[in-house]
Amino acid sequence: MPPMHEVAHLAHLELRTRVLDESVAFFTDYLGLTVTQTVGDSVFLHAFDDYEQTTVKLTAHETSGIGRTNVRAASPEALERRVTEIEAGGHGIGWVDGDPGIGPTYLFRDPDGHEFGIYYESEWYRAPAGLAPSLKNQAQAYPNRGVGVRRLDHVNFLGVEVVPNRDYLRDTLGALVTEQIVLDDGTVAGSWTTFTNKGYDAVYTRDRTATPGRLHHIAFATDTRADILRAADIAIDQGVFIETGPHKHAIQQTFFLYVYEPGGNRIELCNAGARLVLAPDWQPVDWTETERAKGQAWGLKTIESFHTHGTPPVGENA
Ligand SMILES: [Fe+2]
Repeated sequence: MPPMHEVAHLAHLELRTRVLDESVAFFTDYLGLTVTQTVGDSVFLHAFDDYEQTTVKLTAHETSGIGRTNVRAASPEALERRVTEIEAGGHGIGWVDGDPGIGPTYLFRDPDGHEFGIYYESEWYRAPAGLAPSLKNQAQAYPNRGVGVRRLDHVNFLGVEVVPNRDYLRDTLGALVTEQIVLDDGTVAGSWTTFTNKGYDAVYTRDRTATPGRLHHIAFATDTRADILRAADIAIDQGVFIETGPHKHAIQQTFFLYVYEPGGNRIELCNAGARLVLAPDWQPVDWTETERAKGQAWGLKTIESFHTHGTPPVGENA
C-alpha cells in the first residue's frame, strides 16, 4: 500500500452534457463559477478559490455523466511512482497532453471504468483584470453571483461493486478509507475515501442498475451552512430543480443540498463544518443497515430518487 499523500488532491472534473449552453449558464449564474476558455466542444470553468486554472470542464456529449476525473500528484517523483503502479496493475491507458494549464497527464481507469488522469505540472490561475482579488492569498475576487461556491469538494461515483474501486484508490493512489456502509451480509454498499485531511474526496456507492462507469454526483464546498440555505432560495428563483435538502447526512456529517444541473447531472452543495481527519492510523467508520435505516442525521427521509438517479441514465430512466 503506498504512503498517504502521494496524490495531493482531487483536481478538475469533466462533466458531460447534452445541453452545453444551459449547463454553462447553471455553473456560472447559479454556482457562480467563471468561464475561462472554450476549446472545441468543451468549456472550462473556475471556482474563485481554486489555485489551478480549471475546476470543471463541461463537454458537449450525447449523454450526461462524468468524463475524466483529474488528480494532482504531490511531486514529479510521486507521479512517476503512481504511474509505475498503475501500469503494473493493468489499468493504464497512456500519456496525453493535459488540459489547458496542466502538464503531461497519465490516463487510466478504475476497475469500474471511470476515466482518471494524474499529472504534476500545473500553471496556477491568474485572475484577469476585473476579476483580481483584493487579497493576494485568494485566487480570484468573490464572484458576487449565485451561490458563489468556493471550490470543488468531492466526487461520488456509482460502481457495480464498491470494494474493487475502493481498494484500487487505496492501493494504487494512496487514498485513506474514512467511512463506509456495510450491509448485514457483509457487502460494502458505499465507501468514502480521502487523499487529504478532508473527510472525503472520492466516494463509491453501489449502482443498483449494475451499469459501470456512472456518476452519482459531484459536490462544491460553501463557506457556511447558511450559504446552503441561501442556495435553496436562489434555486427556486432561477428554476433550478431541487432533489432533496437542505438536510444533514449522518455519514461525514455533511450539511447538504442536492440539485440537478440542466444536463441531468446531480450537483451537491456541501458543508462538512470543521471536521478533519488527522489521524494517520484512522480506522474506517462502518455504518450498519440498522443505523442507515434511521435515515439522515436529521431532516426528512432520503428521497427514493437518491437511490435510483445516476448519470448517464439507464433502463427505465433513460
Ligand atoms: Fe456528496
